[in-house]
Amino acid sequence: MPRKNRFLLPLLLVPALFLPVACSTAPEARQANCPQPRATRPAPEALYLQRSPLTAASYDHDRARHIFETNDGGGCAACHGRKGDGRGPLAAELTPAPRNFACRATMDAIPDGQLFWIIRNGSPDTPMMSHAELSDEETWQVVAYIRELGR
Ligand code: HEC
Repeated sequence: MPRKNRFLLPLLLVPALFLPVACSTAPEARQANCPQPRATRPAPEALYLQRSPLTAASYDHDRARHIFETNDGGGCAACHGRKGDGRGPLAAELTPAPRNFACRATMDAIPDGQLFWIIRNGSPDTPMMSHAELSDEETWQVVAYIRELGR
């Protein structure tokens, strides 16, 4: 191969490799924290796939938002961010990073029962603490709100 082409070929290949990725991913997936690395332990099997008992009629957006933004002082938003993008005021200090609820590539793979379980019990060995002070009903409300933030 002539000398010049040895350098030219990789240069041409680089954009060719990234082109399909850039075209096929949604805009939010191009954020640095989406898809998000996730090593969270799964809930016990029976609970993992538990469906939310809430319906469109029993979901209370304002109440759920109030819990998300104010629970226990700063609320979930202190870490997860008001928009649920995982960039709350405390986020920079935390390892692993708070879940990015706005990232569908990550969130679509997590069932409601798993979200409920982690909110209730916390994620062991991470800054995500247990929120056993919330009733079952309040916890399902927050699960629904998190889903709404991702839409
Ligand atoms: C002190 C910071 C902090 C607060 C406050 C906090 N979280 Fe988290 N949360 C985290 C971190 C960090 C993770 C990532 C844990 C992991 O990777 O396992 C996380 C993960 C999660 C997950 C992901 C579960 C999974 O299986 O991926 C959910 C759901 C969640 N939090 C909901 C909440 C809700 C709801 C509240 C408020 C009631 C809340 N969090 C409050 C830091 C926080």
